Amino acid sequence: MKGLVLSGGKGSRLRPLTYTRAKQLVPVANKPVLFYGIEALAAAGVRDIGIVVGDTRNEIRAAVGDGSQWDVTVTYIEQDAPSGLAHAVLISEPFLGDEPFVMYLGDNLLKKGITPFVEEFKRAKPAAQILLTRVPDPQMFGVAELADGKVLRLVEKPKEPKSDLALVGVYMFGPEIFESVKQITPSARNELEITEAIQHLIDRGCVVRPHLVDGWWKDTGKLDDMLEANRLILETFDRRVDGTVDAESRVEGKVVVEPGAQIVGSVVRGPVIIGANARVEQAYVGPFTSIMNDVEIRGSEIEHSIVLEGSVLSELSNRVIDSLIGRNVRIYRQPDKPSAYRFMLGDNSEVGIRW
Ligand code: DAU
Repeated sequence: MKGLVLSGGKGSRLRPLTYTRAKQLVPVANKPVLFYGIEALAAAGVRDIGIVVGDTRNEIRAAVGDGSQWDVTVTYIEQDAPSGLAHAVLISEPFLGDEPFVMYLGDNLLKKGITPFVEEFKRAKPAAQILLTRVPDPQMFGVAELADGKVLRLVEKPKEPKSDLALVGVYMFGPEIFESVKQITPSARNELEITEAIQHLIDRGCVVRPHLVDGWWKDTGKLDDMLEANRLILETFDRRVDGTVDAESRVEGKVVVEPGAQIVGSVVRGPVIIGANARVEQAYVGPFTSIMNDVEIRGSEIEHSIVLEGSVLSELSNRVIDSLIGRNVRIYRQPDKPSAYRFMLGDNSEVGIRW
C-alpha cells in the first residue's frame, strides 16, 4: 500500500504567514503539521510515500528530505498549478501504479492516527474508503449523505448541506479511482474535485465505504483551527524540562522546555511548549501556548497563542492572546511620547486590539 500526501495548494486563509511559508509547514506544538501526517502513515505501515508539491516545493523538500527521519521513502510529485485534489491523484498515477493507496491532505490532523482505517480498508478491499466526522459548519467541507450505512451522495462545500457529516482529509483508494478522476470536469472553483470523483465511483456501482471518525480531527487551514489543533496536541504532552528554570520562576503542569531554553523570573503554566534556545524573562506564558526556537518573551504576558522562530515580545502592557505570530516578528513597547500605535505590517496582516 502506498501513501500520497498533498502538500501543494495556496493556503490563502493563513496569509500573511503563507506568503513566505507553505501552510503545511506552519507548526502545531512546534512541529510542522505535515509531519503528523507522515508519522501517521509510517505508523500504519505505509512506507512508500509520494508527496505532491507546488509553488512551495523547495521548502517542503528541505523540511522532509528523503523521508529517512521516519524510515519511509519519499518521492516528490510536481503539480504545476493547484488544480484540485483529483488532479493531484491524476498526475500521481505513474507513482501509484495499480497499488491501493492512502491519500492524506497535508494540512489535516487526526488524533488517533489512521492505522485501524488502513487495516479495515485492506480487509474489505472497497474501491474507496472515506472518513467522515460531524462538524458544526458542514458548508465548509465535502459533505456526505448516508442511507442505511451506505454513501448516497457526496457534495463539495454545499450551500445547503444535507447532513453534518464532513469528509475528513484522509481517503483510501484502489486503482478504480483513476478512471473517475479522468472522467470528471472542473468544478465552479475550477478544480478537479476528489469529492466528485468519489461520487463518480458510486455512480459506476463501485463500493465506497464510509467510516465515522471519533476523537478529534482538524483541518488546520485557518487561524482558529491552528490554535485549536495546537491546544489538542499540547494536551497530550507529558512534562519535560530540559532547559533551565531559575529559582524565581514557577513552571506548572504539562510544560515542555527544550534544551537551551531559559526561564527567568517567570511563570509558565501548561500545557505549554518552549522551543530550544528561547528566553522567557519576567514574563507569563499561559496555557495552550507554543513558543518556538529562539523566541524571546520579555516583560510580557501571552497565552493561547503560537509564536514562530526568532520573534520577540517585549515589555507589552496587555496580555497577548489567541494569536499566531510569524517568524522574526518584533512587538515591543517604547516609552517615547506621544503614546501611539506604530506598525509595520505585511499585506493581509491582522491586528486586534481589545480594550
Ligand atoms: O480538510 C478536509 C477537506 O479538504 C474536505 O472536506 C473537502 O471535501 C476537500 O475538498 C478539501 O477541502 P479544502 O478546500 O480544505 O482543500 P484545500 O484546498 O485546503 O487542499 C487540501 C490540501 O491539499 C492542502 O494541504 C493543499 C493540498 N492541495 C490542494 C489542491 C487544491 C494540493 O496539493 N493540490 C491542489 O491542487
